[in-house]
Amino acid sequence: MTDLSEDLEEANSEGKRLMVIIEQRGCIYCKKMHEEVFVVPEIRKFIEDNYFVIQINMFGDVEVTDFDGTTLPEKEMVKRWGALFTPSIYFFPQEVPEGLMASQVAVANMPGAFGRWTTFNMLNWVVEKGYSSDEPFQKYHVDKNRIKGGGMKRAIGLAAIAAMTVSAALAETVAPTNVTLADGVIEASLTGQPGDPVEGRKVFANRKQGNCLACHVNSDLSEEIFHGEVGPPIDGVADRWSAGELRAIVTNSKMVFEGTIMPAFYIDSGYERPLEDFAGKSILSAQQVEDVVAYLMTLKEE
Ligand code: HEC
Repeated sequence: MTDLSEDLEEANSEGKRLMVIIEQRGCIYCKKMHEEVFVVPEIRKFIEDNYFVIQINMFGDVEVTDFDGTTLPEKEMVKRWGALFTPSIYFFPQEVPEGLMASQVAVANMPGAFGRWTTFNMLNWVVEKGYSSDEPFQKYHVDKNRIKGGGMKRAIGLAAIAAMTVSAALAETVAPTNVTLADGVIEASLTGQPGDPVEGRKVFANRKQGNCLACHVNSDLSEEIFHGEVGPPIDGVADRWSAGELRAIVTNSKMVFEGTIMPAFYIDSGYERPLEDFAGKSILSAQQVEDVVAYLMTLKEE
């Protein structure tokens, strides 16, 4: 038994948003969403923290009571809503007008399987009530910095108002513990020297150093076979971030993206899973960080 009005009440009382996902057994796109999207720790945590999730089986017989009081078995209800695809996700407002069915009151609908960043952005957009602003989701989504940069950066900026202390001895290499991020930016080179983009490209691809390809697609390194997709594609990254921001991301991504799984490459403690080789050492040297930043600055699309 599922009663959407009751579920909405419960979601509201937990301070969460109601989301209904229509699935069916053996649906490869449903499987894809579960195995490739919902498992991403950030996405999983975001859903746990912010959503009250109801699953509906497209061919199921469990009774569902719609917001307007109509009760039907799952399979009939799904037809009533005109949901043709699985998975289909409906997102609901915190208050629904009376006498309307779920598909009419939903603030957003994702018909079919979507990728990680689209899904993640959609989940954020609903929580931020993007639907009540003039900006359509597509624009919000395209404006990538919003979620993956701007939004999180702003949050950090407020949480960690740290003073810039890197400027003093520019010519000397700054030790990891002395690096301070101010609002998601490290302006000064860690070595006092510009990095070398050619070296940086190697560090980026090197499985034992940056291993950035484990999580990032990068068209500039298409000769390398395996590119992970846990993180956003790195293409055009210089259009989205300044050198100071990229230096902060590579040095300690945790300070820029709250709760990110991206490793911090230039800190000497606090690794979630330190490799033995690296215990007490930073993964990259200051010079390597600078080289990687110099390389990233060459990745422009516009
Ligand atoms: C374990 C996976 C992982 C590894 C390894 C990794 N990253 Fe990331 N990276 C991420 C994720 C996930 C994000 C998105 C930020 C977040 O968590 O919200 C990200 C974001 C970024 C961004 C911001 C991208 C954008 O367009 O918004 C840059 C730049 C970046 N990483 C560079 C690197 C570099 C350079 C390396 C290698 C030195 C690297 N990453 C290694 C997972 C990883």
